[in-house]
Amino acid sequence: MSVGVDVIDDDHQAFFRVSALLQEFQSCRVENRDALIETALNILEEYIEGHFLREETALAAADYPDLEAHIALHDDFAAVVSRIIQDYRDGDKARLDPLSDLVANWIGNHILTVDTRYRGVLTDENVDNQPLARLIANADPMDEIE
Ligand SMILES: [Fe+2]
Ligand SMILES: [Fe+2]
Repeated sequence: MSVGVDVIDDDHQAFFRVSALLQEFQSCRVENRDALIETALNILEEYIEGHFLREETALAAADYPDLEAHIALHDDFAAVVSRIIQDYRDGDKARLDPLSDLVANWIGNHILTVDTRYRGVLTDENVDNQPLARLIANADPMDEIE
């Protein structure tokens, strides 16, 4: 499922892994299950924020014609995921049930269909390959990495 940019391919692989992790943690019966789930949610939140930032910044710099529509799709997905996570943290545990499938479906619904359209526009040369946490911190200096 390559888009021809190594760092973006790595981000996309991570969506796969975090979806699998979430599913595994949700179905496991260990004492620290909630902490494991929370860790997976933190990773997911960082991937969504950082990866979308990486893509959108690079697409904007490349004057990508479909940028607005692409950003709108990211924003919709981020809002849905964020709502689910918020409800879960507010105590509605069952809200989390569809989340891993939602993330797994994002791969087919967006990565393989919408992201692949910028293949050739984004390259290893014009995409910032810093770690996601660094990208996020640079975009919001108030959010400094410890
Ligand atoms: Fe992407
Ligand atoms: Fe995208």
